Amino acid sequence: MKKIALLYSFNTQKTSRAAKLIQEDFGGNLEEVNVEEITIKKFLSFDKYILGVPTWFDGELPNYWDEFMPDLEEADLKGKKFALFGAGDQKGYPENFVDALGLLGNIIEERGGTLVGFVSTDGYEFENSKAVRGNQFCGLALDFENQARLLKPRITKWVEQLKKEFN
Ligand SMILES: Cc1cc2nc3c(=O)[nH]c(=O)nc-3n(C[C@H](O)[C@H](O)[C@H](O)COP(=O)(O)O)c2cc1C
Repeated sequence: MKKIALLYSFNTQKTSRAAKLIQEDFGGNLEEVNVEEITIKKFLSFDKYILGVPTWFDGELPNYWDEFMPDLEEADLKGKKFALFGAGDQKGYPENFVDALGLLGNIIEERGGTLVGFVSTDGYEFENSKAVRGNQFCGLALDFENQARLLKPRITKWVEQLKKEFN
């Protein structure tokens, strides 16, 4: 069986910490790929993905995603499943909380991919987020600055959800 890809920037602080916990909860079975070195050929070799993307620059993706983005925007993602997680700061950036999850989620859906791993917005306080669909985020929102203690339980619960939704 093909492995699930765990794609994020290996140079991040917080996203990397979250990725390690996700990998642990999956029993070490995920294939970790550095988004800073990904090629479209490698990317398309998977059909299930967990993508980590923090929000920077008042509601943007970090610039290490820039190089890969044009390829992603033209890729055929039909039949592939994607779960997104992202760090953000709901007190510091309440108008743009985890926007990058929403931006990335929109591109994936436009290209025919299926998003899984939606999480309720209950328990978060913010004004606006491009990641919100109804009363859910289109992925797992993590807040190291204000809710560090919830990190582990949120991840464990989400991984259990993904194990079902990836099937
Ligand atoms: C300059 C700067 C801009 C940021 N902009 C946002 C933002 O628009 N929305 C948000 O939710 N978090 C924002 N953050 C918070 C980061 O997303 C948060 O600190 C995250 O945990 C960083 O993860 P990383 O270490 O993996 O890059 C910003 C942080 C900095 C330093």
